[in-house]
Amino acid sequence: MKFKLTLTLLLLLIAANAFAVDLPGIKTMMQGLEADLNRAQSAMLKQDAPALAAAAKAIAQHPMAVEAERKAIQGVLKAEMAKFKEWDHQTHEAALALAQAAEANDAAAQAAAYQRVLQGCLGCHAAFQQRLKQ
Ligand code: HEC
Repeated sequence: MKFKLTLTLLLLLIAANAFAVDLPGIKTMMQGLEADLNRAQSAMLKQDAPALAAAAKAIAQHPMAVEAERKAIQGVLKAEMAKFKEWDHQTHEAALALAQAAEANDAAAQAAAYQRVLQGCLGCHAAFQQRLKQ
């Protein structure tokens, strides 16, 4: 009886481990995005349009996740992968708009685009961060 219980626990542990996602590249990428977003906000507060444009472009052009990690996410999210990609796309578009607003020196458009970028980050996190967190 005791042996059976130990065996069950062991199998459960192995199964849980098999479902854990390991996304070191994505985690590093996210830390980069955080730094870029902070830089963008700081530049906006100082009305430093060139620095804002650079930070926004860095967000828009963040590196792609490596194939293995994209597959791992796909494996967890399955059909919901489309929604994940949509958040990624929305954040990308908003960051491009932020860069454009910076280049146009349009403070109102900058504030609006910044909000949209942040909504992109938060929207994806609300839906997926906990499930994909290591
Ligand atoms: C398409 C989905 C998606 C978008 C868009 C997104 N994130 Fe993330 N983010 C994630 C996922 C998934 C994790 C969990 C990754 C992990 O823990 O390995 C995460 C984790 C993070 C973390 C925590 C990293 C750590 O050290 O634990 C930070 C910070 C972060 N994101 C910042 C951002 C910022 C800033 C933006 C917007 C510019 C953003 N993210 C947009 C999916 C997204």
